[in-house]
Amino acid sequence: MNFEKGKSLQPFNTFGIDVKAESFVDVQSVEMLKNVLLENKKPIFILGGGSNLLLTKNVKGLVIHNSILGKKVERDFPKSVYVSAGGGENWHQFVLWTIKKGLGGIENLSLIPGRVGASPIQNIGAYGVELKDVFHKLEAVELATGKVHVFRKKDCHFGYRESVFKKKLKGKFCITKVYFKLSKYPKLNLNYGAIKQTLEVKKIKNPTIKDVSKAVIEIRSSKLPDPAELGNSGSFFKNPEISKRQFKQLQKSFPHIVFYPLENGKIKIPAGWLIEQCGWKGKRVGNTGSHAKQALVLVNYGNAKGKEVYRLAMKIIASVEKKFGIKLTAEVNVL
Ligand code: FAD
Ligand code: EPU
Repeated sequence: MNFEKGKSLQPFNTFGIDVKAESFVDVQSVEMLKNVLLENKKPIFILGGGSNLLLTKNVKGLVIHNSILGKKVERDFPKSVYVSAGGGENWHQFVLWTIKKGLGGIENLSLIPGRVGASPIQNIGAYGVELKDVFHKLEAVELATGKVHVFRKKDCHFGYRESVFKKKLKGKFCITKVYFKLSKYPKLNLNYGAIKQTLEVKKIKNPTIKDVSKAVIEIRSSKLPDPAELGNSGSFFKNPEISKRQFKQLQKSFPHIVFYPLENGKIKIPAGWLIEQCGWKGKRVGNTGSHAKQALVLVNYGNAKGKEVYRLAMKIIASVEKKFGIKLTAEVNVL
């Protein structure tokens, strides 16, 4: 087993923050993971693609980089197909693999960075689709015992950017394989205005899953910074959900407030709008700042320290709370 001491994590997080891991190991199979767990006595941090992380200090203990590969058609039914992917598979490459097979369900989740193993952690979502919509089950190794557990949908407690793995079971399991139920005759989800508009501009009347994927890639590329060019972790905060009563009050003071009524009776307010209204959009503070095209995305202009980004996040939270009485919470995992 190759345990590397003091390894820089800069190439392993999309924010590009330069911190070190006390110890680092890349695991390529469940067997290897089990052996690592037998040998190790240190605290463990599981790392995927590092695209939902803000590292504010060196990581004490052992970082296990999940590189378990494998994509497979598990069961083929007349209408649906069950597929699986190893936790270390690149998410977007997996989406493209399913599209190539003509299987629908995750085309709206194209171009989300990171690895398959992290996709259930925050129930990734974009353009009207969430992982939970196609999730079948997952296999995860318990870090304390090395035992493999199976989690069905009901066990995962999926919510908006939430799951049991961010709450009660945080840091307790390594997700090694995820199973999805996809469709041979998918009902396309074109509810998101931007997808409809992009398809209209291209004069596509009867879109395929490939067309939807391409549209999503185009929309995302037009406003989200590419981590290869500008360090970031996507949306830094969650979009807050507030009560109807609080919303009515706010609307009196801010008649142009952007909002989305939810099925649960609450109202979702885009955090990007709140942050922009507080004057942060495109503002640079030292080596960090809020992105010029998407205020919700905090960026690293080159040499930012994690703590610097964190301080900016705290300032943004304070100013949004002062102006709107809404307390933003981080979507990104701060370590
Ligand atoms: P990491 O950042 O490596 O880890 C995230 C958390 O999961 C950590 O707590 C880690 O310990 C844990 N973890 C990782 N792998 C495992 C595992 N195998 N087992 C147990 N725990 C694990 N997210 C969305 O939902 N929608 C979007 O549209 C979206 N757009 C983005 C755009 C950009 C430009 C960027 C940079 C990020 C975006 N994200 C988005 C966030 C991110 O891509 C997702 O959260 C992704 O699933 C993170 O995967 P990862 O492998 O990089 O996880
Ligand atoms: N807006 C502004 N100013 C901004 C940004 C947004 O006013 O700077 C307002 C606009 O009114 C815009 C609305 O917010 O129409 C929504 O913006 P956008 O469509 O860009 O989506 P979002 O709510 O900011 C969410 C997710 C993204 C996901 C997109 C598409 C969260 C926290 N973020 O962003 O996920 O890709 O919707 O579905 O839910 C991520 O999780 O990292 C992520 C990028």
